[in-house]
Amino acid sequence: MANESEILVPWSGRGSAYTEDEIAAVVAAMRDADPQSQGRYQSEFEQKFAAYIDCPHAFAVSSCTAALELAALLCSLQRGDEVIAPAHTFAATVIPFARTGATLRWADIDPDTRLVTAETLRRLVGPRTKVIVLVHLYGLVCDMDPIMALAREHQILVVEDVAQALGAKYKGRQAGSIGDFGCFSFHTHKNITTLGEGGMLALRSSEHAARVPGLRHNGMHGFAGGQPRYWVPAMSNVDFDIDGLWPYNFCIGEAQCALGSKMLERVATINLERKARAQRFIAAMADFPELAFQKTPAGCGHSWHLLAARFDGQRYGKSRDDLIAYMAFVAGIKAVVQYYPLYRYPMFQKAGFGEADCPETDRFFDNMVSFPFQQWMPEGQFDAMISLVRSALEQMRKGI
Ligand SMILES: Cc1ncc(COP(=O)(O)O)c(C=O)c1O
Repeated sequence: MANESEILVPWSGRGSAYTEDEIAAVVAAMRDADPQSQGRYQSEFEQKFAAYIDCPHAFAVSSCTAALELAALLCSLQRGDEVIAPAHTFAATVIPFARTGATLRWADIDPDTRLVTAETLRRLVGPRTKVIVLVHLYGLVCDMDPIMALAREHQILVVEDVAQALGAKYKGRQAGSIGDFGCFSFHTHKNITTLGEGGMLALRSSEHAARVPGLRHNGMHGFAGGQPRYWVPAMSNVDFDIDGLWPYNFCIGEAQCALGSKMLERVATINLERKARAQRFIAAMADFPELAFQKTPAGCGHSWHLLAARFDGQRYGKSRDDLIAYMAFVAGIKAVVQYYPLYRYPMFQKAGFGEADCPETDRFFDNMVSFPFQQWMPEGQFDAMISLVRSALEQMRKGI
């Protein structure tokens, strides 16, 4: 049995490595940014990002969670309103919506894409449904056309959680630019990062956009009518953007924005590299149909953020836990499980969101395995992982 020190293929907390140009961009901003928050690097990052995803407005923030919090405020939810979301996601997808007092309703996932669909959402739509939160999980974009048609039919706002899917397209359009709000992450695990934390809120409505700077920065505004003397009556005004909804400080630093602008130039290349590797891994497992990877329907793009599969080892009397244990303690690969259905967590149960009718969410989580997939993994290590996973699957077939 291997122990932690004998792990050959680790699970990394770092998605990608920086180029020298990216490091230089941070150093330059460290030298010359004045101010070091909410300055020209932020404006440049926002403009480049909005152009990249082809969306009218983009606001840089401290995390995707912050972007989701702002989106939740802008949805103007009232107690008793309902928000439909998948339970197969990271908790940050829904916490901002729960905070408003709205009721969370859990939509099941499709067993092949592991994403919600118009059908799984439709079952939950009712007169109180105000918002649908979609997650392009693992990097695969949801089938947006039928979902948007459903939402428009019932006047429901659509929030896209694009934390894992920057650069993935749906029928030629960038994920995050199709719904009413797109929330992006530049957290350390993601395909690009802004020094470990960071996010972006993209939105289409100019009315919503006008409210974001104040909501993002403590309700700070210029005075109506301007100020002939800039210090009178004070340097800036403080007011609600949405009456009664208190603002936050979700600003991100200038050095992070300088890095974000630079890394954005590399998203397409990084995603292509990840795609080539994912496809190589999936092809190498083709003779093990008990490992079922995410299906990618025509038109639905993928950023290949994670490499997850369902292990259907029942016919060999083997479970996912047997496979992960073999990989961790014998083969030396640290695979993980992800996205414990949110309704199983104490926090959601205590809040009254412990009930769900999501058999596919349960089946997927209970049988899933996520392989190490950091972009910086050396080729030799990736090749070694392929042959070690194959031998682990052979052992499972032998009942070992
Ligand atoms: C699907 C999903 N949503 C939201 C988040 C939250 O992003 P952040 O860490 O930038 O707040 C993450 C990951 O970190 C995520 O994977």
